[in-house]
Order: sequence, then C-alpha cells, then structure tokens
Amino acid sequence: MAGEHRTSRRRTACAPLVALLLLVLVSSGGHGGGGVKASERVAAAAATRRALAAARPTTPEARLRAAVTSRNATVLRLTSDILLTSDLPLMTCPNLTVVGNCRTRDGRWRSCKIDGGKKFFGFRSLSQSLDFHITIRLDTGFHSGSTPRLELVNLHLTNFHQPIVEILGFVVVRNCLVTKNTVTGFSFSAYELRFERSTFTSNNGSLIGGMYVNVHLKGAVFRSNIGGPAITFYQGGVYGERCRFEANSGGAVGVTHGGVRFIRSSFVNNSGGAVSIAYDASGIFCHCEFAGNSDTLSEGRSIVRHVYFGGVVSWSAGVQFCKQRPRVGVVLEKPDLASYIKDSCKECPK
Ligand SMILES: *[C@@H]1O[C@H](CO)[C@@H](O)[C@H](O)[C@H]1NC(C)=O
Ligand SMILES: *[C@@H]1O[C@H](CO)[C@@H](O)[C@H](O)[C@H]1NC(C)=O
Ligand SMILES: *[C@@H]1O[C@H](CO)[C@@H](O)[C@H](O)[C@H]1NC(C)=O
Ligand SMILES: *[C@@H]1O[C@H](CO)[C@@H](O)[C@H](O)[C@H]1NC(C)=O
Repeated sequence: MAGEHRTSRRRTACAPLVALLLLVLVSSGGHGGGGVKASERVAAAAATRRALAAARPTTPEARLRAAVTSRNATVLRLTSDILLTSDLPLMTCPNLTVVGNCRTRDGRWRSCKIDGGKKFFGFRSLSQSLDFHITIRLDTGFHSGSTPRLELVNLHLTNFHQPIVEILGFVVVRNCLVTKNTVTGFSFSAYELRFERSTFTSNNGSLIGGMYVNVHLKGAVFRSNIGGPAITFYQGGVYGERCRFEANSGGAVGVTHGGVRFIRSSFVNNSGGAVSIAYDASGIFCHCEFAGNSDTLSEGRSIVRHVYFGGVVSWSAGVQFCKQRPRVGVVLEKPDLASYIKDSCKECPK
C-alpha cells in the first residue's frame, strides 16, 4: 500500500517537470529556428488571457463568494441581483462591505437583491449556532482587532430559510429591505448589530437576536412580520431611535436579563403584546407611541398589552416612560411590581 502511494505521488510530481522540459525545448527550438511568428505570439497571449479570466470569478455570485473568503478588507459593489445556488462559504474576510447599486430597466436606481433560494445560508463565521452561542458566552466583551465586520448596504435580502447573518462580530445593515424570509432561530445574530433606514416586512420567525447581543436601530421599520418577537435576546441591549413596529404578531421586542431603550419610536397594532421586559431586565421609553397592541389570554379574551414587566429576581431598574406611561396596557406580572414603573425623563436625551 505504502509503495503504491509513493509511486503515484512520484508520477504526479513528474508531470509538471515534463511539461517544463517540453516548454524549454519548444521555445529554444523557436529561437534557433529564427523567431516565433507574430501571429503565434498573439495567439499565445490570447490563450493566457483566457486562462486568467477563467481563474478570476466572473458571475456576481462567484464574486460574492470570493469577497466572503478574501483575506483582506474588501468592498464589493454589486450591479446585479444574486440568486444563491449554494450556502455562502464561511466568512474569512476581516472587514467586508457589500454595496448594492442596481438599475431598473429604465435606468432608475434600485437596491440589489440577494435571494437565499429558500434553503441556503447567508453570511456566517461559524457553521453551528450552538457553537456560536457558547463562544459568545465565553467571549463576552471581546472586542479585539480580529473581530470580523460585515456591512450590507442597499440590498434586498429575501427568500432565506437559513440565517442571513450569523457572525461573531459587528454587523451594519444600512438602507436594506428584508422580506419574505422564514428562519428558525434568528435571521440576524452577532455581537453587535446596527440597522439604519432599513425595513423588515412579511418575514416569519425572529429577526434579530441571540445571547449577549447589542442591537442599535435608527429609522428601522418592522411591519407585518409573524412568528416573533421580531427582536429577542438574553443579555445585552436594544437601543432604538425613530423606529416603527407595526402589525407584527408574536410581539415586537422581548428581552430577558438586559436593557431596552427607545426614543421617538412607535409600537402600533402588534399582537402578542409589543414589548416584554422580564427576568431582571429594564426599559426606557422616551416620547414613544403605543396603540392597538394586544395579547390573547389563555381563556381567549383579548387585552391591551403595550409593555409587559415581570420576573424581578435580584435586580431591575424598572421601566421609565417619558413623559408618561400609556393610560392602559402596562401589564405587571404581580401587583407589587408597581413601584418599578416610573414616569420620568431623566434618562432621555434633552
Ligand atoms: C492583502 O494584504 C496583504 C498585506 O497587506 C497584501 O500583501 C496583499 O497583496 C493583499 N492581497 C490582495 C489580494 O489584495
Ligand atoms: C472596514 O471597511 C470600511 C469600508 O471600507 C471602512 O469604512 C471601515 O473603517 C473599516 N473598518 C475597520 C475596523 O477596518
Ligand atoms: C412560519 O414558520 C413556521 C415554522 O417554520 C411554520 O410552521 C409556519 O407554517 C409558518 N407560517 C407561515 C404563514 O408560513
Ligand atoms: C390598527 O388597527 C385598527 C383596527 O384594525 C385600524 O383601524 C388602524 O388603522 C390600524 N392602525 C395602523 C396604524 O395600522
């Protein structure tokens, strides 16, 4: 067996050597014979160019794969849509930016679509979400230079049935549309996520979350998603400004052991309640609107439930509303938690 193996290795090692010898013979023959004809040289150059082009990724999907696995910081500009034909490879690029810059037929600007084909994984830095959560746990506060960074700009992310982003790093999503994804677990999970001017509609399943996750939202809209809460996490925080949560079922935001702060945001017509703050979690709502959020009790009766507060085990700063709490719909686990609910603008920006 070992002898056979060695023989086959030697044979393959010989092949390039033979090719090299032939090349030397051919070219020296050429010189000896008074020079290669110009047409032959042109043909050889064209063949080289073709070989190089074949080695370089040409389709938009191949370019995306190459960017994801690049070793250097990369900015990829897409000018056409991508329908994934397999999982994206694990991300090795330390700092990847994907910017969509597509055109409609009549030349108007539009975002570029990345379609998950109803089965393929998006951007990941580990293959298993179990590993992901354990690693996050061990690495809390881990902010080293090697933490990967992903930025998605001007994209339409759709038809994912596996996570869109699951990386041990920082994620920025700007000016994106996230629709018609059905993901078990979370569509987006990372140490730190920032969503700006982005809209989530008609998705099924939790959209953003995990353990030890910080989520920053600015101008984010969550509308008509089901299978929520849209954002849910254990430890960490969600900080939102000028956001809107409308007609989501399963709730808008659910936090345990963490913090929630919203400024000038609205929560309208969500079922399953809007915000749930439980197990030593705290909340701050500055100039927020709550209307039409409901939940169904076990006996089938519907109640108004804008904010649920419960499960104080060891510590919670409670919930503060600026300027004041909604007239109805602040639901307490037990009546003796009433002192945790305050009308105060102390924690709100001036
Ligand atoms: C990646 O970065 C290294 C070090 O900065 C550099 O030497 C190399 O040429 C870069 N590779 C590419 C493909 O840009
Ligand atoms: C990552 O790349 C983006 C875009 O090129 C750049 O703005 C940003 O500063 C880079 N971040 C890091 C941490 O290198
Ligand atoms: C939402 O996802 C769940 C779990 O995958 C599935 O059972 C349910 O049918 C989906 N709902 C719709 C309306 O697609
Ligand atoms: C909320 O639901 C009510 C009753 O279905 C409807 O009249 C109202 O227009 C909805 N509000 C928004 C902002 O969708």
